[in-house]
Amino acid sequence: FAQQSTEQWRPAIHFTPKINWTNDPNGLIYINGNYHLFYQHNPKGNEWGNMSWGHAKSNDLLHWEELPVAIPHGKEFIFSGCVVYDKDHVSGLGDPTKPLLIAIYTADYPNTLQEQHLAYSNDEGLTWTKYDKNPILSINLKDFRDPNIIWHAPSNQYVMTVVKPWEYTAQFYGSKDLIHWSLLSEFVQQGDIDMIWECPSLLELPVENSKETKWVLALSSQGPYKKTVGMQYFVGDFDGKTFKNDAPKEQVNYVDFGRDFYAAIPFYNTVDKETFWLGWMLSWSYGKEQPTFPWKGQMSLARTLSLVHTSQGLKLKQVFKPNFASQKPSFEAKNLVIDGSKTLSGIKFLQNKTYMVELRVDASRAKQWGLEIGDEAKENPELTRIGFDEKSQDWFIDRRMSGVIPAPGFDMIQSAPFVSGGDKVFQLVVDRSTLELLAQDGTVAISSLRFPKNKESLKLVAQGGEIRVKELRIWEIK
Ligand code: FRU
Repeated sequence: FAQQSTEQWRPAIHFTPKINWTNDPNGLIYINGNYHLFYQHNPKGNEWGNMSWGHAKSNDLLHWEELPVAIPHGKEFIFSGCVVYDKDHVSGLGDPTKPLLIAIYTADYPNTLQEQHLAYSNDEGLTWTKYDKNPILSINLKDFRDPNIIWHAPSNQYVMTVVKPWEYTAQFYGSKDLIHWSLLSEFVQQGDIDMIWECPSLLELPVENSKETKWVLALSSQGPYKKTVGMQYFVGDFDGKTFKNDAPKEQVNYVDFGRDFYAAIPFYNTVDKETFWLGWMLSWSYGKEQPTFPWKGQMSLARTLSLVHTSQGLKLKQVFKPNFASQKPSFEAKNLVIDGSKTLSGIKFLQNKTYMVELRVDASRAKQWGLEIGDEAKENPELTRIGFDEKSQDWFIDRRMSGVIPAPGFDMIQSAPFVSGGDKVFQLVVDRSTLELLAQDGTVAISSLRFPKNKESLKLVAQGGEIRVKELRIWEIK
């Protein structure tokens, strides 16, 4: 039967395939002025299946051009993995006179075996040749997946991180030619081991206000569990063989406290070694119920990563890679006192559009404050609330009344603990159905979907006392 298309929910600057399903981002790489995004894709349907690599490119990380399916499945499904630029043609594959990309991904033989395969491309990822001597790595395990590769200069080798999901184990392998891999070490059962481990990556990140770098091991865990669904990270050192976690084994650090941020991996071959990543903005708990047509699944914005010292130790900091704030804001207000609520009227572009709000509050006697996006209905209003709770000291996105509730439990408050002092400030990108909140200079993240039905306005609210808004700025994003 005919299903109605839901273009009103299609984000403008978050990648979505024109039609059909997507989950994890794969093979993120920057080459010749373009960012390439490959992605887990069902080319034939709006649900998970026929897993192949879709492909899109962008020169600004905001507007994406969808390209033909890059790596189609055969008997094997093409699961998650990465792309490496083989600058020196160390693999010896393909045409030595042209730039060479190597994709290393998991070949999934459903319910039987997962092993790591290689494919190569001499045309910037448009077409790929599957290596005829695959697999390049197999340990005869049903679940063994999601390879991610870096070049590790000090030990002069490529290093692959890959997981054994049900053993909560990340393995590191080394290689000189991207074809032959040998085991370096394992990282076993630390942090959150409530749900299987997937999509690992090893990152070397700058520590802010120092010349130091530290290593981070990031990975995803399928939920739902406890308070969060999604990604965790460990901070430590990597010596070319072993990753050593600085924190006690039980300590858990979450990447994002929203339900809709998963499977993020970094871009390869970036300028000046800047590290940024993007993730899948959906959750396995209700992915198949996402009420959109003719696509399901979307990617987050790219976020630049670093580490910062806080009262709770080194924390991951994420900032939007697209520098929205470099433009003149479309709306600006300073030194407002809010007690109750104030409708920001006359901001025409809010309606069904894409924008970023930055709110800085430097004094508060309220119990709760923030933004309300919704209709003006007196009874049963449609409302998404974003802000800070002074009592629990939590940042939150409340989507209990945000519109269509596609699955039980979707109507929830997602909250993230405050990290350390300073002004209370956040940036929120609203792109139709997608919301990304980065608070306190990016040490707190909450990513969340919502599916509003009605026309919206934006309100500034302070409940149970007043707040002083030092600065409010809004940018319309085109
Ligand atoms: C994570 C994941 C990966 C796997 C892929 C399959 O979302 O389960 O572990 O490679 O999706 O589509």
